[in-house]
Amino acid sequence: MSDAYAVIGNPIAHSKSPLIHTEFSKQTKQDMHYEAILVPLNGFIEAIKLFQLNNGKGINVTIPFKFEAYKISTQLTEQAKAAQAVNTLVFDGNDICGHNTDGAGLIHDIIINHGFTITSKRILLCGAGGAASGIILPLLKQKPSTLVISNRTVQKAYKLRRQFSSYNNIIVSGNNEDITGRNFDLVINATSTSLIGKSLLLPKGIFSTESLAYDLMYGDKQSPFLQFAEQEGARYLSDGIGMLVEQAAESFFLWRGIRPDTKELIKALRESKS
Ligand code: ATR
Repeated sequence: MSDAYAVIGNPIAHSKSPLIHTEFSKQTKQDMHYEAILVPLNGFIEAIKLFQLNNGKGINVTIPFKFEAYKISTQLTEQAKAAQAVNTLVFDGNDICGHNTDGAGLIHDIIINHGFTITSKRILLCGAGGAASGIILPLLKQKPSTLVISNRTVQKAYKLRRQFSSYNNIIVSGNNEDITGRNFDLVINATSTSLIGKSLLLPKGIFSTESLAYDLMYGDKQSPFLQFAEQEGARYLSDGIGMLVEQAAESFFLWRGIRPDTKELIKALRESKS
């Protein structure tokens, strides 16, 4: 029986993970299969146990189970602890190892695929929910000069700053007045506005002619955030497709010990939506 992997979530029909991991396994000639499993909201633990019994070697976890996956992990990486969320489980005997590959995927996409350096740069991170908290540690490890966390509900941004208090370059912004008149090298949209097709209200002038605007979300159309960045003269624009594929490649590496090539797949996924 070949090794089994899956993505677990609710809803799950939209997930591109089966397509991505099937491509990776073909490319690297691995004896494995990967499926999407819809799990009832109260059925996470039972689904994991059943999957392990059926030769399951690893699982990707998506909304709304990332915190439950964090709780059932018997070992956690530094990044999973910082994010307080797990998107990749590795079953190792009786151990369940919880990883979070989202941040590594984002950093890989920005640095390797876009050729953009984060070190010494000024970052504006919009949002302070689950998506934002999952990428803060990997961003800080790149040693930016400043990281401004801007969120509609300012208390959540303060909470994140406290969580990363060993870093002294985090600034909190609760409303656009705090960031008006400043510009940033890297502006990341980690709010859920693009998911619901809403605009994120940002002041004019936050992009310089060398800025990268990065939306963690992706969709068929350019998001209002990226449209705004383009109008405002940001030099580089990116949706979250690269991050999606790279976080999958990180998971694949944890499971199979081999990092697949991602460039062609990112290109194909981009082309299939245009
Ligand atoms: P996710 O897991 O996708 O990050 P989340 O934890 O619910 O989802 O966080 C959603 C983020 O998008 C939050 O930062 C939220 O801001 P609040 O903390 O103020 O709710 C942000 N967000 C959602 N809708 C928004 C809007 N219309 N304008 C600005 N920020 C918005």
